Amino acid sequence: MNSQMQDVVNPRVQEDLQLLDSAQALAAAAGEVLLSGLGRSLIVETKSDDTDLVTRFDREAETVIVDGLRARYPHHRILAEEGGERPGEHGAPCWIIDPLDGTTNFAHGLPLFSVSIACLVDGVVRVGVVLAPAMGWRFAAVRGQGATLNGRPIGVSQTESLDSALLTTGFPYDRRTSPANNLAQFVAFKKRVRGIRRLGSAALDLSLVAAGKFDGYWEMKLKPWDIAAGTLICEEAGGLVTNWSGGPLDLFRGEVLASNRFLHDSMLSVLQGVHTSL
Ligand code: IPD
Ligand code: CA
Ligand code: CA
Repeated sequence: MNSQMQDVVNPRVQEDLQLLDSAQALAAAAGEVLLSGLGRSLIVETKSDDTDLVTRFDREAETVIVDGLRARYPHHRILAEEGGERPGEHGAPCWIIDPLDGTTNFAHGLPLFSVSIACLVDGVVRVGVVLAPAMGWRFAAVRGQGATLNGRPIGVSQTESLDSALLTTGFPYDRRTSPANNLAQFVAFKKRVRGIRRLGSAALDLSLVAAGKFDGYWEMKLKPWDIAAGTLICEEAGGLVTNWSGGPLDLFRGEVLASNRFLHDSMLSVLQGVHTSL
């Protein structure tokens, strides 16, 4: 039996594909909610920092996803940005959700935002979906099965030198008050690479590294819902995702470095160079 045939009958893969179906269906429903609010004049509230925004569409999109998961999987655990943790059965799969990644863009009517849904089984991300409804992009991955954009396989870029690399990054909401705000790292990379973009959605940053549009991405002070799905998509497309020391990524520690693999060591040295000179 070849490995593809084995996967088809492998019950773990069958279960993951069902989880993926649910994630895609609920991301699509949340995406409709977000599209209904795009470009409307919105009441925008701020959260912990005065640059950290939330709208009623963040909350409504999250409700659609959480209610859908509760109906399908009443025993599963859920961690979602707006509503926090909803306990389930001990040891049950855990869903990690950002109903609107890129709220600042959304609030300004800019179509670069996404819905991010990941499912962890035994603490490992098995399934990830990042949907950018206004762009018509649906990124998806199942562990061990590759990554897709709108159903077609994707892969990371082949860029081998920082000189010709296009990178993406983001900045934390406490950047006005905290010196750990990624500005020093931004300057260091800016001197070394072809270009850097700041899109405003971490989930899309990771997915676009997966699709080979960006060669690498780094950011700090992220939350698990920003990166859980995008990390799997990037890894399944052949990318490498670690912390800023090159060690295993911890979804709860905030630091992310993603690359096409070829650039990983050079990106690590730039980050470590900044760290030691602070
Ligand atoms: C934010 C976006 C942004 C990143 C921030 C995140 P939100 O998520 O992913 O790109 O730089 O750190 O908090 O607040 O729009 O869900
Ligand atoms: Ca987010
Ligand atoms: Ca969000």
